[in-house]
Amino acid sequence: MPIAHKTPAMKKLFIKTYGCQMNVYDSARMADLLAPLGYAPADEADGADMVILNTCHIREKAAEKVYSELGKLKRLKEKKAREGSTMLIAVAGCVAQAEGEEIVARQSAVDIVVGPQSYHRLPELIARVTRGAGHALETDFPAEDKFDSLPEESAMQGPSAFLTVQEGCDKFCTFCVVPYTRGSEYSRGVLEIEAEARRLVAKGVREITLLGQNVNAYRGPGPDGETWSLARLLHRLAEIDGLDRLRYTTSHPRDMTDDLIAAHAELEKLMPYLHLPVQAGSDAVLAAMNRQHTAKDYLRLVERIRAANPDLALSSDFIVGFPGESDKDFEATLSLVREVGYAQAFSFKYSPRPGTPASTAKQLPDDVKNARLQELQALLTQQQSQFNAACEGRMMDVLFEKPGRKPGQAVGRSPFLQPVHVENAGHLIGEIREVRIAEVLPNSLKGVFARQMAAAL
Ligand code: 5AD
Ligand code: SF4
Repeated sequence: MPIAHKTPAMKKLFIKTYGCQMNVYDSARMADLLAPLGYAPADEADGADMVILNTCHIREKAAEKVYSELGKLKRLKEKKAREGSTMLIAVAGCVAQAEGEEIVARQSAVDIVVGPQSYHRLPELIARVTRGAGHALETDFPAEDKFDSLPEESAMQGPSAFLTVQEGCDKFCTFCVVPYTRGSEYSRGVLEIEAEARRLVAKGVREITLLGQNVNAYRGPGPDGETWSLARLLHRLAEIDGLDRLRYTTSHPRDMTDDLIAAHAELEKLMPYLHLPVQAGSDAVLAAMNRQHTAKDYLRLVERIRAANPDLALSSDFIVGFPGESDKDFEATLSLVREVGYAQAFSFKYSPRPGTPASTAKQLPDDVKNARLQELQALLTQQQSQFNAACEGRMMDVLFEKPGRKPGQAVGRSPFLQPVHVENAGHLIGEIREVRIAEVLPNSLKGVFARQMAAAL
């Protein structure tokens, strides 16, 4: 029987997320925040009552994408206006923080500009705009705690969830906008994090990735009045029944403390995967980047981490073509990569960001940057293939996250974060099962249950 007249009129909300996992978390929280206002998630911008672009400012390309997307949204907004209704357009995230007013100047269809520290004020900003008060801009670093103002209830779905425990960065790498867009380091309290983790687990989450721009610099107030480290927080969360896997990202080499390294040996629930960006392998470039460590420091650190857990997958970020990077400097990056052996990595051409110290230095020609990026990526891809190839035949626990492309298939993640797909596993979403890696494909692994293996023999 239709009950539509009983339910409140739902408005459609479309959020497009760019950039890092912290933005993924923020987007989900924005959806939670707007749900009580009658906004329900939509799959596309066309026809939506509100569209939020949650943006990334880390490289020029990421920031420019926002303006081309806004051009498209303007046309959808006009179409909606012709049909007699309205579409609110909000720009959130790091481009909003960095460019503020300029966004409205470049694209007048934008109604709201809201930074990553102030998105809890979205309901108020929407009210302001719908009252006809013009554009609303909110890019302050407010005194009140954003996390206190977010609803406890979350509609986040799936067995693997993100949980932001730390925000901002005090490191000031000379290439990076984060200290300016996300502000200085801030850590949430232990009990608040634990409560959020328990709520997620009660909803069926089995794996939590603790997020922070500089997550291993976490120093949050503990229930005993002391300041807790990330390692201590991980130990506490590992006690939660039903929470089977813990991860954290992104870490700075300088903040890999002894207790955190030891946690990789002590905590079975802490997955054997660590994203530990090094950016470059030359000491001169590392110094110019203000990374505050040498290549040797990093290699020694990797040794200590591998001593704690020899079976750990390492991942990293790299920047090529940083101002002043010579052929010899670049060679040092390749040599560091060869020495470490990464399971996965991300690499980028240096992109000058307005307001950062390195942006005013003399830039390397783009063809040099391109050639270096290609060479580095070829090496990293080869290492990733090697790492995956070595997994063939291994038994691994897989947390099934979603249905695969074929009927009955499910896709999950190995402890090393590799996607693994398995046939006849559709009923196991949200569960962890041991499988044998039967085949290594270019972008994923194929797993089979031990039973099926035996039957096939
Ligand atoms: N240019 C290129 N890459 C950058 N990153 C950060 N800033 C820049 C920039 N200006 C990369 C770093 C960082 C990752 C998130 O993005 O490698 O670790
Ligand atoms: Fe940016 Fe460096 Fe801070 Fe990472 S550590 S967020 S690269 S300034």
